[in-house]
Amino acid sequence: MRVLGIESSCDETSASVVSSRGDDVTLDSLVILSQDVHAIFGGVVPEIASRAHLAAIVPVVKRALAEASCSLDQVDAVGVTNGPGLVGALLVGVSFAKSLSASLGVPVIGVNHLEGHLFATVLEDGAAVPPFAALLVSGGHTLLLDVPAWGDYRLLGATRDDAAGEAFDKTAKLLGLPYPGGRHIEALAKNGDPSRFRFPRPMLHGGQRAGDADFYDVSFSGLKTAVLHAVRDAERRGALDEERPHLARAFQDALVETLAAKTIRAAVEHGRTCIVLGGGVACNAALVSAVRERAAAEIGGAATVFAPGPRLATDNAAMIARAALFHLERGERSELSLSAFASMPLAGGR
Ligand code: KG4
Ligand code: ZN
Repeated sequence: MRVLGIESSCDETSASVVSSRGDDVTLDSLVILSQDVHAIFGGVVPEIASRAHLAAIVPVVKRALAEASCSLDQVDAVGVTNGPGLVGALLVGVSFAKSLSASLGVPVIGVNHLEGHLFATVLEDGAAVPPFAALLVSGGHTLLLDVPAWGDYRLLGATRDDAAGEAFDKTAKLLGLPYPGGRHIEALAKNGDPSRFRFPRPMLHGGQRAGDADFYDVSFSGLKTAVLHAVRDAERRGALDEERPHLARAFQDALVETLAAKTIRAAVEHGRTCIVLGGGVACNAALVSAVRERAAAEIGGAATVFAPGPRLATDNAAMIARAALFHLERGERSELSLSAFASMPLAGGR
């Protein structure tokens, strides 16, 4: 079985071929074209993203097929992200996937982008399968889930305001770093003194119990404001240049500690020893090692933390093809009336 995956929900045009033989799934190709143009604007401009997807989709798909040595008549199904994301951007992938499916006479399968992120790690490590606790941290989403089985996603908590990646990007902007800022903050924080500043750990305190509204939820807007005040103060002192790494470090420490603590809570409360991270912020090595350290301390030797490598952590079509394969094998298909949705809850209405 060969599935062509297509992803165009934000600012990456991506296509991938994934094939299965029995239980063995292989990633045959993955092409990701990142739209660098948005860096000029300090954020993704939806109309520009749609146009760039339109220009890129045909060459990106052709290249993915060529790299997989797969001809069009060897494609058994087309999987495509149909939400959540920028509607205009999504529509490019969805329309293309539907046309291709109709002309080839093969099924099209709409995939929830967030479900795709959950499937990214298993492409690299076959052991990253449910049951597991999952932390999805991207530019648009921050979700904590319990996943007893593929297809069964139970929302435990989410951000009340900014997504983790958004908090990284906004803080990077305050510090005068380029967009998207996550990896720049991480690089800067390496030279930061962890004791120079201390920012609040949002919605994290010892008295919280399972069942409390804020037990799993996170909030990053207050943290961003704390950074803003510290940046202004450093500017007034004419010391922003020398304080920059320390500010980046203190921001990252606060965010990482909060996410790691809440993720381990989710695993412990649901008896999971396996934890899967996904989304662009899962590229952050400080986050991954904090989750690993806490898991070892609080769950013990049985704990395993899976985090995808950078190519599969950020938006890509391989994870979409892999999720589509799962649905295909369950006999699920989408209609040709498949549409794109800006918001598309994975579980629990958020
Ligand atoms: O999953 P993704 O590629 O796109 C969305 O679906 O949003 O995530 C992009 C986000 C951006 O906010 C970016 O700053 C963040 O992931 N990011 C990082 C790192 N690399 C990417 N955040 C922190 N540390 C990193 N190393
Ligand atoms: Zn994403």
